[in-house]
Amino acid sequence: MNLIADEIKTESRISRLRCIGCGAIADHADQDFRCPTCGDLFEVFYPGWTTSSGLKAAGLDVPALRKLWLERKSSFLPIDTSGVWRFREMLPALKLGQDPITLREGNTPLYELPKCAQAAGVDALLAKHQGMNPTASFKDTGMTTAASFARQEGFRWVACASTGNTSASMAAYAARGGMRSLVLIPEGKISWGKLSQSLDYGALTCQLRTDFDGCVKVLNEVVRRRPVYLLNSVNPYRLEGQKSAAIELLEQLGWQTPDHIIVPGGNLGNSSALGKALVEMKDLGLSARLPKLSVIQAEGANPLVRSLREQAGKNLVPVEADTLATAIRIGNPASWKKALRVVQVTGGAVEQVSEVEIASAKAEIGADGVGCEPASAVTLAGLKKLVKQGFVKPGESVVLILTGHLLKDPEFTLKFHRGDLFVGTPHEKAATVLVRQQRAPLVLDARVDAVLETLEKFDRAGSER
Ligand code: F0G
Repeated sequence: MNLIADEIKTESRISRLRCIGCGAIADHADQDFRCPTCGDLFEVFYPGWTTSSGLKAAGLDVPALRKLWLERKSSFLPIDTSGVWRFREMLPALKLGQDPITLREGNTPLYELPKCAQAAGVDALLAKHQGMNPTASFKDTGMTTAASFARQEGFRWVACASTGNTSASMAAYAARGGMRSLVLIPEGKISWGKLSQSLDYGALTCQLRTDFDGCVKVLNEVVRRRPVYLLNSVNPYRLEGQKSAAIELLEQLGWQTPDHIIVPGGNLGNSSALGKALVEMKDLGLSARLPKLSVIQAEGANPLVRSLREQAGKNLVPVEADTLATAIRIGNPASWKKALRVVQVTGGAVEQVSEVEIASAKAEIGADGVGCEPASAVTLAGLKKLVKQGFVKPGESVVLILTGHLLKDPEFTLKFHRGDLFVGTPHEKAATVLVRQQRAPLVLDARVDAVLETLEKFDRAGSER
């Protein structure tokens, strides 16, 4: 069955690159993945595979494709057990004989968040937890594709600038694929959990005395001067893999499109990728309509919000980014045009949330027994705002994309519960509302009575809370 499907796929799914600025078509990009004519970004497209008639020409229809993807769930082949490559008809094909580098990424759960739904004022709320990937963030879904292309092209070195998750993921996939990896991260501004991952997976890790945007500038010059394969999200093969989260989501929903999908915005690659998948699935007839895709940024790292409000989305307004949600501490996002396009095509919103709103939302997601890293929590904080504004109606179906695992940034969580997250910051006064969510660990004598007294005290207090 798989062999037959693969034969169909290879002839129909030839992919090419198209510049989002000037529309130039290419089959190969330079090492910076920028269009040599206008300097804008490339996207992958499939000339024979864009409509339902393209599907038919390849010998498949919508039911056959959905069935094929489900059938692969009972296979033990690595390419089928990957929740990315299982959907390979919608991905660029590797050359015959090339295996993907896979850690069995994707396959992430869709959780109900009843307490968060109540807090946000919606009847029901779902979260697709991309933090349940092998290196605990959504980056793995794009890294499996882009790292596989790096190896296919014969690169010895891959590299990225990162706020921590891309570097962790890249280091793992490079190691699995027998390549060396170079990581550039801002010194002191990424969580220890993420830094330790890239060390463990054997990356050459450089902490630069700058921010993420400064790391990007340095890396762009490095890849111009050395044969190093760039694995930031300007690499369009990463975004192709990241599309799989949207495909898997619709499959999990029985191919019913939700009304809203809400995603955090940093360098804006992920929102671009999810939006691309949603549009492609609609064009192929896999889904009946488009959900509204909304992007939420931290107030301190809000270039997309400002670009829309101050420039009507015509130009990017770069900012000096600052937020405790370090994953999205980005002031000059590379994929802003792509993200804006999908927000506009789907009729979504762009919003910003404060540091205290992020911290509170993160604790609420934790209290539903799910948890996530701070950057992911902007989704719930943003949803609350969108409900208040009437953009999201209480009865509508909403899916939050949680991008990173709770354990990525334990320091944030510990400081939150100890009550010192915002001490000495401009948010200290606003943060007093967080007290009721804080659960600092208690230090007690090693006596049964001490534990029982505490238990009773909390039981009584709990019924009042
Ligand atoms: N959430 C998490 C946990 C992230 O790590 C990132 C980005 C985002 C959201 C934003 O996604 O950039 O595609 O808009 N992290 C990158 C990194 C920049 O280097 O790990 P985006």
